[in-house]
Amino acid sequence: MILTDTLNRPLRDLRISVTDRCNFRCTYCMPKEIFGSDYQFLERSQILTFEEITRLARIFVRHGVRKIRLTGGEPLVRRDLHRLVSMLSAMPDLDLTLTTNGSLLAKQAQALKDAGLKRVTVSLDSLDDKIFKAMNDADFPVEKVLEAMDAASRVGLGPIKVNMVVKRGLNESSILPMARYFREKGYILRFIEYMDVGHTNGWRMDDVVSAAEIIKMIDAEMPLEPLDPNYRGEVAERWRYKDGSGELGVIASVTQAFCNTCNRARISAEGKLYTCLFAIHGHDFRDLMRGGATDDEISQKIARVWGTRDDRYSELRSENTIDLPKVEMSHIGG
Ligand code: GTP
Ligand code: 5AD
Ligand code: SF4
Ligand code: SF4
Repeated sequence: MILTDTLNRPLRDLRISVTDRCNFRCTYCMPKEIFGSDYQFLERSQILTFEEITRLARIFVRHGVRKIRLTGGEPLVRRDLHRLVSMLSAMPDLDLTLTTNGSLLAKQAQALKDAGLKRVTVSLDSLDDKIFKAMNDADFPVEKVLEAMDAASRVGLGPIKVNMVVKRGLNESSILPMARYFREKGYILRFIEYMDVGHTNGWRMDDVVSAAEIIKMIDAEMPLEPLDPNYRGEVAERWRYKDGSGELGVIASVTQAFCNTCNRARISAEGKLYTCLFAIHGHDFRDLMRGGATDDEISQKIARVWGTRDDRYSELRSENTIDLPKVEMSHIGG
């Protein structure tokens, strides 16, 4: 049965966080002052097993989900992730993909491909080592991420998409070099407006570089024209280079909210369902499953939660919403 929420939005896209841990400390996501050595991450017993994730995913697919994205934290720090991929890829007609920081991807690319992963999105915020290291705060070099993208592309996990979060005063100078490099490579670069996810990154509107500004900057050097979306509810607005040399995207969730078509649900590593990236509360499924619930009971709870969903945070964002105790992005993934 196809579900719709109170704003008539179907459930199509499920993002599953497989761990709340990450080997980076991006300043806009897991600032070191908060996520330091004494930070309490989830214990092994608190996070869903691959079997539990697969069971839940199957029930979501029956409710209309057509795309599953594995996220984290950093999903590739979860041991044997390819095993989960092979369990999920047994479901037909599913777009199965993964968002990663690329640090552990080169080694795992072949196993992930063999397990049935369709494609990957890799995050990278600059081609300049100094800027990138200042942003990942883990001393991780650019070169290794580029190598991982190439390795993934070689094994057939392309077309590679690249996510770049743009933060004013930090990596604006990387916009053009990134656009030039990835146009040449044929990878699809997407510029993401810096968002007020979570409540630890000290977000300010002044730090946001708008998608319009980014497009204007690139268009002045490499002329662009808009492209139609690939599907209804696509997050990135697509643009192509007029000379036919490829495309890029902008994700303008701050300056042009796209809640009206939002068909995304998120499950945290501990098995809570969040109906918005900016949600404060999640709905537990782990204890429900561990308490012996049947598939029907789980299915009914999903239907109840989605059926009453009215989230549209990005459309309602204001001075008063910034400091709400929202869930962290490292908890529910992008
Ligand atoms: P494909 O089109 O399948 O490649 O995926 P996608 O466009 O959904 O891309 P992805 O999941 O990589 O999302 C890119 C980024 O957009 C995320 O990392 C988030 O930063 C942002 N984003 C994705 N979904 C949402 C959403 O529902 N709300 C908001 N505000 N931002 C989102
Ligand atoms: N604003 C925008 N994008 C963010 N990401 C993480 N935190 C933020 C934020 N505050 C991005 C990452 C990655 C994806 C999972 O989400 O860079 O590309
Ligand atoms: Fe880790 Fe991704 Fe968050 Fe950076 S943005 S800290 S790589 S989860
Ligand atoms: Fe969807 Fe919430 Fe993002 Fe709006 S703010 S697009 S409802 S996840």
